[in-house]
Amino acid sequence: MPLLETLKMILKTFKLAIVLYASFWPMLSCADIGDDELLQRGEYLALAGNCHSCHTVEKNTFMAGGVPFETPFGRIYSTNITPDMATGIGAWTFEDFANSMRQGIRPDGTHLYPVFPYTSFAQLIDDDLLAIFTYLKSIPAITQSAPDNDLSFPFNIRQFLAIWKYLFLNEYVFEPDDTRPDSWNRGAYLVEALTHCGVCHSPRNFLGAEKRHSKMAGGAYSDKISGVGYRKWFAPNLTSAPTGLSLWSHEDTFSYLKTGRNSLVDSFGPMNEVIFNSTQHLDDQDLDAIALYLKSLPPIPVAESQPADRKTMGMGRTIYNLHCGTCHLPTGLGDPEMAPRLNQGSLVVQAQNPASLINVILYGPEEPRPPLPPKWLNPMDEFQYMLDDAEVAALATYIRNSWNNNAGLVTARQVAKQR
Ligand code: HEC
Ligand code: HEC
Ligand code: HEC
Repeated sequence: MPLLETLKMILKTFKLAIVLYASFWPMLSCADIGDDELLQRGEYLALAGNCHSCHTVEKNTFMAGGVPFETPFGRIYSTNITPDMATGIGAWTFEDFANSMRQGIRPDGTHLYPVFPYTSFAQLIDDDLLAIFTYLKSIPAITQSAPDNDLSFPFNIRQFLAIWKYLFLNEYVFEPDDTRPDSWNRGAYLVEALTHCGVCHSPRNFLGAEKRHSKMAGGAYSDKISGVGYRKWFAPNLTSAPTGLSLWSHEDTFSYLKTGRNSLVDSFGPMNEVIFNSTQHLDDQDLDAIALYLKSLPPIPVAESQPADRKTMGMGRTIYNLHCGTCHLPTGLGDPEMAPRLNQGSLVVQAQNPASLINVILYGPEEPRPPLPPKWLNPMDEFQYMLDDAEVAALATYIRNSWNNNAGLVTARQVAKQR
């Protein structure tokens, strides 16, 4: 083994020993060890993994858990991952932490629900896990237990998760593909292992596991709309399908993830948290890598949608020209001061499942907070009280099938479900 490799090994073992030692002696925080670089890298990786969005309710309870998640099986709360000894992970060793991130298991052997995306984090390399663990050990400890979950039988029995994991958890660490450039591999690692886009953007089976053969082809799940509650959302197809990310250039993806805005759309809804708590903090090289990797995903076509009929299109056109055309223009091309284009650019408009588009129409596009730098003269309204289900359905159908868009019919029943 060359000298450099040996030295690296010794250094790694030494770091691991320190962290293990620190977890046994909680009075000695990792910050005291002075390994600033490891801490900083850990913070960066934690931002990329967006631990914050799922584990923080308010600024003053940073990472202390208690965030609710609505699943088809009931409500699950995230847990406290601050270094608190009693209610957090203060007493955990690095091995305990690695087991939770890779196998979804607690030190006492309890299984964790896959709402915690260990199915993705399982691919993280040891160095990165160690950096994240070191960082988590350095943040202020907060004493706070998660509220009790509210799950239906048999999903409330954690032991059954062993079977689920046997079926669906691939516990392999990321392996670079030697035939691809480094930046592609970096992008694959970030997307698949750390930023876990697929957790929302991949379809799931009836037991809530991501379908392996249609990764990133779009997924439905519940998320919050402030002031409204939880509704179904659809995270669109990020493969190069004609209604997926093929509509965007490399720069469009880069700029969207960095600033929440590109030449085509503005961020709204659930992507606000993804971008502003996570991807905007990534350096340009990493964002380039993500955009490169996403662009390379082979197209996964989606099931043929029901074609729109002329009556619905006619009705939709009237509603559109009356309520939307002033800003988005009757051509759907948008206006640099009034509103973005709705044709050939918004993945949300063209998604196979119209849930997110219906949410935008009913409740308006929820802006990031703080808002993006001013660009539009007026914000878009909500239309939940102005239009009934059949009208919203006709309107959505019209937008999805005009100006070269081709995404199929929306029914009044689909709209009613989003109310
Ligand atoms: C999509 C939401 C989500 C994201 C993102 C997320 N977590 Fe979690 N995490 C959860 C939930 C929910 C639980 C609780 C699972 C349970 O109770 O079975 C959890 C549990 C955990 C646990 C187990 C704690 C315990 O008490 O047993 C650890 C450790 C953890 N998360 C670390 C992290 C880290 C580190 C990150 C960022 C790299 C992260 N999580 C990102 C939702 C998330
Ligand atoms: C918490 C779930 C979630 C995660 C994680 C997530 N997304 Fe999304 N994404 C959504 C939803 C829901 C939408 C549609 C509504 C919206 O834009 O907020 C969406 C929309 C998008 C769009 C289309 C925006 C438009 O207006 O046309 C792109 C592109 C995108 N996401 C990329 C990503 C990438 C890249 C990642 C990983 C870095 C990611 N998303 C992670 C839920 C998620
Ligand atoms: C007052 C001007 C205005 C009117 C009227 C208006 N919008 Fe918007 N719309 C906007 C602006 C500005 C945005 C960008 C803000 C954002 O996405 O956060 C937007 C965003 C959208 C988006 C999200 C596109 C994407 O993927 O990011 C959709 C879809 C949309 N509007 C549809 C409609 C429909 C349908 C109507 C009619 C019922 C309508 N709008 C009426 C100004 C308007």
